[in-house]
Amino acid sequence: LNANVKLYEAFKEDFFIGAAVNPITLEGQRDLLKHHFNSLTAENEMKFISLHPTEEEYTFDHADRLISFAKENGMGVRGHTLVWHNQTSEWIFENQDGNTVDRETLMARMKSHIETVMTRYKGNIYAWDVVNEAISDKSGELLRPSKWLEIAGEDFISKAFEYAHVADPNALLFYNDYNESDPEKREKIFTLVKSLKDKGVPIHGIGLQAHWNLESPSLDLIRQAIERYASLDMKLHITELDISVFKHDDQRTDLKEPTAEMMESQAERYGEIFRLFKEYREYITSVTLWGAADDYTWLNNFPVRGRKNWPFPFDAEHKPKQSYWELVNVA
Ligand code: XIL
Repeated sequence: LNANVKLYEAFKEDFFIGAAVNPITLEGQRDLLKHHFNSLTAENEMKFISLHPTEEEYTFDHADRLISFAKENGMGVRGHTLVWHNQTSEWIFENQDGNTVDRETLMARMKSHIETVMTRYKGNIYAWDVVNEAISDKSGELLRPSKWLEIAGEDFISKAFEYAHVADPNALLFYNDYNESDPEKREKIFTLVKSLKDKGVPIHGIGLQAHWNLESPSLDLIRQAIERYASLDMKLHITELDISVFKHDDQRTDLKEPTAEMMESQAERYGEIFRLFKEYREYITSVTLWGAADDYTWLNNFPVRGRKNWPFPFDAEHKPKQSYWELVNVA
């Protein structure tokens, strides 16, 4: 086996291999990104608050740089994300006087944001996470309580997709969420997306964030989720994959490096997961890691403060880990 085997080459008959990047990793992981990945997602830089801090002002610098890097290197870009309850500027929900805006104003602002952003990157972004995490994690509750829902009502979701489709009719439009393999949440996501599709809303796929760990969700639950979503005959993108080395009940914060056992189990886990993805390659056309190498992950300090994590197939020096070899093996 050859460490030069490019991940995206290895999976080129199956799906794109993507990485989430930020301005720091785009520099520090440059060579690794160019070598192994053919799709990029902005970890934060295309979120509402990053692009549109005040009503009059757009800040496109970081996002533009990502797009140029992708273009120069023949990579695709997934857009993340247009409508979300987090990392969204408060001004959009407020009038000049500080009161809550009415539904018409909010929808007009949403439309204008979607049009401006998608028009700028038209032709350079093959898929957009139009709506992110709108489903509730609470039992018995379909939609997550949010300012969007409270002010505009549930059709802020279909409106977002409609505006997005007008702005860039060629971009694939996704609903994206986490805990996507949990049976109850899965059914809620299915219900929402099916109802959008049945109403003729322009939605083309479901994004499975896939923030997973060594033991959960089980491979069975992941398969069931993929099967269920695929039954809607839509594209599936794995949008934010990382495999935490900590099991659910492991709260240790003192590890300076991962144990050999962790690395072994992670490699097996990457292997079984990608084997599964390959089985569904008719549906799964893009698989993005929420990072690329262990020198940076949002899982450092989250959800447990002061704890490091090592969720990727490349180590902090960008050297292939066992997980990488297992991927090459599976491909
Ligand atoms: C995370 C980023 O990785 C962090 O840097 C940021 O502080 C919070 O957001 N679901 C999503 C992503 O859709 O946008 C989130 O990204 C991770 C969970």
